[in-house]
Amino acid sequence: MPARVAVMISGTGTLLQSLIDDPGRVYDIVVVAADRPAAGLQRAVAAGIPTTVVAPADHPDRPAWSAALAHAIQTYTPDWIVSAGFMRIVDSAFLDRFPQRVVNSHPALLPAFPGAHAVADALAYGVRVTGCTVHLVDAGVDTGPIIAQRAVVVEPDDDQESLHERIKAAEWELLPQVINRLVAHGLTVEGRKVRI
Ligand code: GRF
Repeated sequence: MPARVAVMISGTGTLLQSLIDDPGRVYDIVVVAADRPAAGLQRAVAAGIPTTVVAPADHPDRPAWSAALAHAIQTYTPDWIVSAGFMRIVDSAFLDRFPQRVVNSHPALLPAFPGAHAVADALAYGVRVTGCTVHLVDAGVDTGPIIAQRAVVVEPDDDQESLHERIKAAEWELLPQVINRLVAHGLTVEGRKVRI
């Protein structure tokens, strides 16, 4: 039976699309979950993948929302959870439901530029090289052990949009590769070192 992967999104879903379209995909995407009626959900619908929206506004507080999201995803019995452009922070209770099984793609070379404005921050800092990071999600903000990274050169005339598009192109290649390896071989974590 192919491995079962749940994907979480908040936006346009191009990272999700790279997973859907991956010709080498060795797993099933069993659900796409969002924190809002994200445009990317239409990509799941077009691919015949079930979707669910669990919005913070529908819950009394953040822990209740995080628990509702975990429950909604759990009903699809995923082996892995991929945060692909998901803009919320899940809490430790969520992570306890899926220990060392939640993976995120971040548009910077962590630990540089964590958080929701990574591309703008890298551009503002004047770095010559940035990139993307696939990492295990822990209770911090983009602080989990790093699984893979890819560098992206910042061009002199880059603005946030052009730089982010080039970073996303790197994510569209790196994330599917990493997820295929994860579902096929699993991972081991020793301290901050991840082996897949
Ligand atoms: C990606 O760059 C991801 O790293 C960041 O948001 C972007 C999502 O893009 N968190 P999309 O919604 O998959 O097009």
